[in-house]
Amino acid sequence: MSDVSRPSPAGVRTAAVIPAAGRGVRLGPGAPKALRALNGTPMLIHAVRAMAASRHVALVVVVAPPEGTAEVRSMLDAHALPERTEFLVVPGGASRQESVKRGLDALPPGYDVVLVHDAARPLVPVDTVDAVIEAVRAGAVAVVPALPLADTVKEVVPAQAPGEPEPVVATPERARLRAVQTPQGFDRGALIRAHETVTGDVTDDAGMIERLGLKVVVVPGHEEAFKVTRPLDLVLAEAVLARRRLNDGF
Ligand code: CTP
Ligand code: MG
Repeated sequence: MSDVSRPSPAGVRTAAVIPAAGRGVRLGPGAPKALRALNGTPMLIHAVRAMAASRHVALVVVVAPPEGTAEVRSMLDAHALPERTEFLVVPGGASRQESVKRGLDALPPGYDVVLVHDAARPLVPVDTVDAVIEAVRAGAVAVVPALPLADTVKEVVPAQAPGEPEPVVATPERARLRAVQTPQGFDRGALIRAHETVTGDVTDDAGMIERLGLKVVVVPGHEEAFKVTRPLDLVLAEAVLARRRLNDGF
């Protein structure tokens, strides 16, 4: 017997919020990071395509640099994007957290699963996006894609002056650590509650869910979901795109 009070998985609609309002200070001088080109196409367009590539994603909300909303709208118009996907553009805020909140405020009703995806991770494969959505649909409140670490990590007492040696406090067991990526996937109600109630320094949305005392689970991430942060990351991203082009034969 079917339970009519619960939407069937096929009726669960997914929206993706893409915070893209950062300056990209670590990338060096230039346009806001998300608007810079990778192999001739803006990073943001790659990120939007990565979300829209999932058949489950019906709406993409782009949180644009505040002075760049018109530019982002014309960028979306100028590039080929799937017909089945709707797009909204809203201005961002001073912090990533504020930008995500503005994206959530713009979400129309009817989307039960919400992804939050950094524009700075333009190359995440669709299989990773779908794995996150599937885990939320299967009942998880919050899902993050993550990878084991290559480097050993040390906890230190941060230096007071640049270049000063930093005393090591601890070495967490590497096998228990994960580096988290995006898209992070959420039950919409829980994510909105987290953004309404959690304040202070949180660097990802799943961290806010943890602060609420709710469970966050990890699914396998992908090395191509790396974040473009520093100039060398641009070289890697363009190499990945070039390899894809060769493999796709166009
Ligand atoms: N972001 C945002 N609004 C902000 C700050 C960041 O929407 N006020 C977004 C960025 O556009 C990016 C994502 O959050 O897609 C992850 O942030 P990060 O990689 O730190 O990007 P930037 O903040 O742009 O880079 P930097 O910290 O080097 O300035
Ligand atoms: Mg930043």
